[in-house]
Amino acid sequence: MTEKTPKLRPALEGVPTYKPGKPAATGGPVAYKLSSNENPYPPLPGVLEKAVEAAGSLNRYPDLASAALLAELADRFSVPLSHLATGTGSVGVAQQLVQATSGPGDEVIYAWRSFEAYPIITQVSGATPVQVPLTGDDVHDLEAMLAAITERTRLIFVCNPNNPTGTVVHRAELESFLDRVPADVLVVLDEAYIEFVRDADVPDGLDLYRDRPNVCVLRTFSKAYGLAGLRIGFAVAHEPVAAALRKTAVPFGVSHIAQEAAVASLRSEDALRERVDALVAERARVAQGLAGQGWTVPGSQANFVWLRLGERTLDFAGVCERAGVIVRPFPGEGVRVTIGEREANDLFLEAAETFRKEL
Ligand SMILES: Cc1ncc(COP(=O)(O)O)c(C=O)c1O
Repeated sequence: MTEKTPKLRPALEGVPTYKPGKPAATGGPVAYKLSSNENPYPPLPGVLEKAVEAAGSLNRYPDLASAALLAELADRFSVPLSHLATGTGSVGVAQQLVQATSGPGDEVIYAWRSFEAYPIITQVSGATPVQVPLTGDDVHDLEAMLAAITERTRLIFVCNPNNPTGTVVHRAELESFLDRVPADVLVVLDEAYIEFVRDADVPDGLDLYRDRPNVCVLRTFSKAYGLAGLRIGFAVAHEPVAAALRKTAVPFGVSHIAQEAAVASLRSEDALRERVDALVAERARVAQGLAGQGWTVPGSQANFVWLRLGERTLDFAGVCERAGVIVRPFPGEGVRVTIGEREANDLFLEAAETFRKEL
């Protein structure tokens, strides 16, 4: 008798499993985790207290509509309530957007390399990924992305700043791109790292979405706000898209603790600004340190830097690990290093120097 196994959708064949950043070892010498673009700071003032209080009602389902949070977001970003939707991290919302727009036979365009979840969520939906290589400067090639649009295109991700390169697209080129994308193709501006942007020519997606019904902005509480472990992000989009997000949401996916922590975080704006400014200053220090050692690193507007190391990628990651910092290697391509606490950044700079001297 042949062993029968449950029939799975063929679309899942070849779907890569999401690889989380390697954790820092425990119990051994000091190791810092600079592999997941996390925030090194603890929750913002007042957030932990709210989260603990919220944990007192774990026996209850959370508010399905995230009403208190949406009211806070609507007020803060001056957007209608009906344009907002929350999800289990912005990756959860991104998956809902793909599910809402794209199935077998449809195409999803994104730059490559970019956020590694894009190919996964596209293929899980049964849609076809269309990867458009970054330019030689590691920036989105918006003209090539336009040229890749076909009748089958349903969704385009623009990751700004881009993970893992930290590079950005500017207002004029993004507007010109959006003006030429067909109105029935959804453009998702993934702004997971927007709070770290200091380049004044990088647009705020919320300004671009307002008079463009095919533009959706994705934001997260995981990075600048430091709530990665609570899994909460949100989208801002015009009504048909926002309504589709409510249909594709896992019921009660966003916990009460996450909703309360997000509200408290939004109310801790001064402390947020201080921390983000400190990380941005560290980013400048790291970039300067690397340049001083002779590295050519693309200017990053996010909380990480990208070193294009090609075949030396894994060797470099090994040198960093032995120095006490866990970085994120993409074999054959490069290494992404999160800006962490000062000591971690120092260890990374030392490792980078050691590696260069051994070259
Ligand atoms: C570009 C980008 N978008 C979205 C996310 C997802 O973040 P989260 O699901 O924690 O909101 C990440 C996380 O690394 C990211 O780099």
